[in-house]
Amino acid sequence: MKIASAEFVKSAVNEKGWLMDGLPQIAFVGRSNVGKSSLINRLVNRKGLVKTSGTPGKTREINFFRINGSFYFVDLPGFGYARAPGRVQQEWGPMIEAYLSGCKSLKLVVFLIDIRHEPGKNDMAMQDWLVYYNLPRVYVATKSDKVSKGSIGKQIRPVARMAGVEQDVVIPFSSVTGEGKNMLWDAISSVL
Ligand code: GTP
Ligand code: MG
Repeated sequence: MKIASAEFVKSAVNEKGWLMDGLPQIAFVGRSNVGKSSLINRLVNRKGLVKTSGTPGKTREINFFRINGSFYFVDLPGFGYARAPGRVQQEWGPMIEAYLSGCKSLKLVVFLIDIRHEPGKNDMAMQDWLVYYNLPRVYVATKSDKVSKGSIGKQIRPVARMAGVEQDVVIPFSSVTGEGKNMLWDAISSVL
């Protein structure tokens, strides 16, 4: 995909703030710190488009980015970060769920899981939920630069098991090296 433009449009905390102009939307979900914002930056080759942070819980609102003037990337707050203040955590869940179940222009959910860890309770809950709402989805194992090349297959096995898909459709991705970028763009392009 050639990126002619990538721009931040707005943040939203509830339904009133969603963009509903009919352009397709691609949402990125995953637990806090898994690498959602970094992945978006890498996909569009704009290092500073989305704020990233070593401190989990950086993204607290739903952020909309317009790409090539023709579709949106939607960066969702990370779920299940235990150290977020209780009230903040309670607000995230409903905000994410309302968007995922209610946005009519949502074409694909990109579900990120850290390649170094087996999916946790929150990942399983998100998985059940995406299945329940029958949302088109693609699975990405992030931070693949953190494990050896030879162990990637083994590392993504638990992700494939959770997802109920073959191992070779889980995309190993690194925002550092760019691994997986073309494969993920192929998946995204196929729904646009
Ligand atoms: P929240 O906004 O808190 O939900 O986090 P996020 O999922 O948006 O994660 P973010 O992109 O901010 O990245 C979290 C941390 O992981 C940062 O310190 C990143 O530099 C690091 N990181 C993200 N992707 C990669 C990757 O592919 N490889 C490596 N080595 N580090 C990464
Ligand atoms: Mg983020």
